[in-house]
Amino acid sequence: MSTINLFTQFHLKSLHLKNRIVMAPMTRSFSPNGIPTDDVANYYQKRAEGEVGLIFSEGTVIDRPSSSNDANVPHFYGEEALKGWKQIIDGVHSAGGQMGPQIWHMGIMDNHHSGWVPPVPFEGPSGLNRPGFNNGNTMSEKDIENTILAFGKAAADAKRLGFDTIEIHGAHGYLIDQFFNPETNLRTDVYGGKTIKERNTFAIEVVKEVRRQVGNDFAVIMRFSQFKPSDYNYKLAKTPQELDAWLTPLVDAGVDILHCSQRRFWEPEFKNSDLNFAGWAKKVTGSPTITVGSVGLSGDFFGAFAGESSQPASLDELTKRFDRGDFDLVAVGRPLLSDPNWAAKIRSGKTKELIGFTKEALAELVLE
Ligand SMILES: Cc1cc2nc3c(=O)[nH]c(=O)nc-3n(C[C@H](O)[C@H](O)[C@H](O)COP(=O)(O)O)c2cc1C
Repeated sequence: MSTINLFTQFHLKSLHLKNRIVMAPMTRSFSPNGIPTDDVANYYQKRAEGEVGLIFSEGTVIDRPSSSNDANVPHFYGEEALKGWKQIIDGVHSAGGQMGPQIWHMGIMDNHHSGWVPPVPFEGPSGLNRPGFNNGNTMSEKDIENTILAFGKAAADAKRLGFDTIEIHGAHGYLIDQFFNPETNLRTDVYGGKTIKERNTFAIEVVKEVRRQVGNDFAVIMRFSQFKPSDYNYKLAKTPQELDAWLTPLVDAGVDILHCSQRRFWEPEFKNSDLNFAGWAKKVTGSPTITVGSVGLSGDFFGAFAGESSQPASLDELTKRFDRGDFDLVAVGRPLLSDPNWAAKIRSGKTKELIGFTKEALAELVLE
């Protein structure tokens, strides 16, 4: 099957993409003390030169004292770190790409294996990262207010530095997802409750503040997942109706594009339909969506964390779904860690030159 439709333009507000290929956000931990280096700038520029339409940065943390559990995850605050980010976006633009930072607060975390800990305890809706695992503080209303403002400040800085969009990290069991999840949000104030409508309040306030900071013409993207790293089969929304109740209020608050994180894009989200997560999100909200998850690869990304490499795989199922309009953009993670030229190779049909994902790529910033 032809991939030609993946190489059509996409325009929405501040986004003017030359194709539908998106680099998925991937934490690299190559930014000592939170400051992105020249190597990090070069790494992103190479992906833009390799014809990726839209690049998401790795998750980059907002200005809260315990937003990170890793000293080498980049900050999106402070003069020096923002100088690094300015160099990154200028490099990506010089290569004809577009980019948004993925702004992130990790919430309640396990302590990092390096032994580094933030200056104050982790913070989350109820101190929990998963049932029975408490490793930090329950946020006060003041903490929540300041965190919402910090998300907004990061978004404003992204726009000021010249980024084309921002992505709010609402997936994978981190802070915002800890509010969504009834197992980690046990609050009895306005930020908690039995229904997703109630547990959405924090995320809605974050989105509204981000929108207030960037104005109406700047594209705001948000990432969601049903699974948690502690439970791959978890489903926050068990039916399309629940998905609607979760996502539509966030669209109403100002999200333009929904980034629907799955391990394997071909897996149906609900019974009696082959639509995946992005397909259903688009169907219930009417908004553009991004799919992701083992695109062009034989194995999924949890395997990567267990030390597995992956071979190149056919894009036929992906293009079938894309061509029938299930989703608008396609994010690719691990293939772009190993190969900055993955998108260019797909466009020009050089499939024999694809290298898949090599586990060694996790340990370095591959530039060639
Ligand atoms: C090394 C690595 C780091 C990741 N870091 C992030 C991250 O910072 N934020 C995020 O939302 N997802 C992160 N992910 C998940 C990816 O964005 C993506 O959803 C996942 O790898 C599936 O895509 P793939 O199968 O094409 O690799 C990471 C994945 C990998 C492999």
